[in-house]
Amino acid sequence: MQETEFIWFNGKLIKWKDAKIHVLTHSLHYGGGAFEGIRVYKTKKGSVVFRLKEHIKRFFNSAESLDMKVFFSQEEIINAIKETVRVNKLKEGYIRPIIFHGYGKMGLDPTGCEVNVVIAVWPWPAYIGESAKVKTSSFIRIHPKSLKADKKICGHYVNSILGSLEAKKQGFDESLFLDYEGNVAEGPGENIFMIKDGKIKTPKLKGQILPGITRDSIIKVTKDLGYEVEEEDITLDELKTADELFFVGTAAEVTPISQLDDVFFKEGKIAERIRKKFLEIVHYEDEKYSDWLDFI
Ligand SMILES: Cc1ncc(COP(=O)(O)O)c(C=O)c1O
Repeated sequence: MQETEFIWFNGKLIKWKDAKIHVLTHSLHYGGGAFEGIRVYKTKKGSVVFRLKEHIKRFFNSAESLDMKVFFSQEEIINAIKETVRVNKLKEGYIRPIIFHGYGKMGLDPTGCEVNVVIAVWPWPAYIGESAKVKTSSFIRIHPKSLKADKKICGHYVNSILGSLEAKKQGFDESLFLDYEGNVAEGPGENIFMIKDGKIKTPKLKGQILPGITRDSIIKVTKDLGYEVEEEDITLDELKTADELFFVGTAAEVTPISQLDDVFFKEGKIAERIRKKFLEIVHYEDEKYSDWLDFI
């Protein structure tokens, strides 16, 4: 990880090395925190944050799903993010806001625990690489009746960690989760799309997957490019008959899948077109989508 100079901690900018917490921090023990992953891109007119308002809305929704009281408004967090990017002179990279229960109370009920908000930023190039070799996980995606699976909560990511460890041990780059009904869910930090006979499909939102902001952007962009996009249940067998497959997410951006278990895929023309368009949009080379960009 490449360090930057400052971290925003409950309203104050402090040195990166001083951004420390106590070992009895509530969220460290029980996973009750909410976070976001956001990207800042360099463009010819300065740096921009991609879909900042949507990320912050989801950030607050996730925190509220755990009854966490955030003592900052969404606007204050948006401004704090821009300030943190600016003071660190970060032109392009990753933004990680997190809300967590702090020190002072143990026991599972967090009521009354202090709530902390932190924003860190650092340079972080493409997360997976040019393409991904993917393994269907033996773990299923978290059950929506055990956890609020459509929220971005720290503890949910143990599921993602298990999937990632398993995939890496077997020589793959990334895992793919099915849901409890056996349908395709998502990757540990990505949503998935398939293309078959020119039609694009992605698993529908029904509380089982994270409503990805990149997923939402890709649906809009592919429709604008003239393709049909369907959000519906997809089985693993159907996924394996696709002509093209790709993951999308803030960290992964648009990453073609070259292998799923023992089936191989090429980056086809459609996925390539979508990937190019996405990169044009985030780099402000297509002004039609400028509403999605917040200048620093
Ligand atoms: C489980 C999961 N699915 C999908 C995504 C993609 O979401 P987004 O495009 O909002 O980054 C992420 C990343 O945040 C994730 O953690």
